[in-house]
Amino acid sequence: MAAPPAPALSPGRQKAGWILRPEALMLRARAEVGPAFTLELPIGPAVFLADPVTIREVFTGDPEVFRAGEGNAPLEPVLGPASLLLLDGPEHLRRRRLLLPPLHGERLAGQRAAMERITAADVASWPRDVPFALEPRMRQITLGIILRLVFGLAEGPRHDELRGRFAQLLPRGAGNLALVPALRRELGGRSPWGRFMANVRAIDGVLLAEIAERRGAGDLEERTDVLSLLMTATDEDGRPLEDRELRDELMTLLLAGHETTATALAWTFELLFRHEEAYAALRADPGGPWLDAVCSEALRLRPPLPVVVRRLATRTTVAGHDLPAGTRVAPCIFLAQRDPVAHRTPHAFRPERYLGVAPQPLTWLPFGGGTRRCVGAAFAQLEHRTVLRTVLEHVAPRAADPRPDRPARRTIVLSPARGARAVV
Ligand code: HEM
Repeated sequence: MAAPPAPALSPGRQKAGWILRPEALMLRARAEVGPAFTLELPIGPAVFLADPVTIREVFTGDPEVFRAGEGNAPLEPVLGPASLLLLDGPEHLRRRRLLLPPLHGERLAGQRAAMERITAADVASWPRDVPFALEPRMRQITLGIILRLVFGLAEGPRHDELRGRFAQLLPRGAGNLALVPALRRELGGRSPWGRFMANVRAIDGVLLAEIAERRGAGDLEERTDVLSLLMTATDEDGRPLEDRELRDELMTLLLAGHETTATALAWTFELLFRHEEAYAALRADPGGPWLDAVCSEALRLRPPLPVVVRRLATRTTVAGHDLPAGTRVAPCIFLAQRDPVAHRTPHAFRPERYLGVAPQPLTWLPFGGGTRRCVGAAFAQLEHRTVLRTVLEHVAPRAADPRPDRPARRTIVLSPARGARAVV
């Protein structure tokens, strides 16, 4: 059987739906066509996979066949050619082995206190009795955490400059702009793309200066931030990362780890506000058993990255369909996590389903799986729990709007359209 059919919608309406109402489009296609369907996306057609077993086959399949790096190529001007996200095959595995240890284990546990401090300092500046959007606050907090714990920057001029420049780099829509190669005209720095790239180069300057200074400072071995650990790491051949490669991995960790975690947190508050039992239990005991349950359920119902993409290097059979080389295959995290067989009431926020019960990896996969599973998953999960708990230890925000927020596309993530508005 060739590629699976598309839902009964014109290609134009599929593309528009993907931008404007992606959840409704995916649910409709799944109901109309089945667990494998084709959708016409703005980047071209993709074969969506909703069946958890098929998705696992793709995640654990031959990485030389299911290539992820190629699909991320439009991000190269920002990430740089050495970015983990752009590599495939043995190169990718070698780089992953360098990046994983600094983001795991004991080192991670030592970072909780800094996460608490950064969160508490931000909460102290929140308005009282006036509605405000939580999502931008969460982005401030997750950016602060990355600058401190991944980049290793203490408060100071370099920290402030990067914070300002990253805020300009990542506003609503800038990522979309960067993804449209036709708009990439610098025009001497006057076009949007020109300003965007000028900002990227300024960031490069700051990062390369920081790397050079740290090499000279002599305290590299004592430092515990991710950059310092990467600077002292070597691959199997004893080769350390070069400065440009370090720069590319820092940008990669920032882009992959900043908005995803902020979005997860914004949804968690938005959903929690509307579940009285879970909210009351968490308020009474912010570090108690509901913490894991609420975080897991928020990531199940609203995964920040609803799909991931692979490109087939050779003709391959996927879910019984014979697909030619070059086909985009899209394991759909969103639909697998709403699988009605695996989850009772799959479209409802029910954290109680995970009280004392660990999520099943087959149908709970917000961090993907296999050889490209999120390298920041442990870091993100610690951050998710620590920020949520610390906020609730200090204040008791409530939903500012009676109607639940709905998902809207924000660069690569689906985040709350109104920003998860709250009042303290
Ligand atoms: C709740 C927060 C997060 C979510 C939901 C998330 C989700 C994901 C997913 C689904 C993938 C797999 C992409 C694919 O299969 O193509 C991924 C990859 C990745 N993530 Fe995360 N992520 C989060 C936080 C983070 C953080 C905090 C960092 C870094 C500090 C990070 C760094 C990365 C990197 C570098 C990759 C690429 C891995 C590779 O290609 O081998 N992520 N993430």
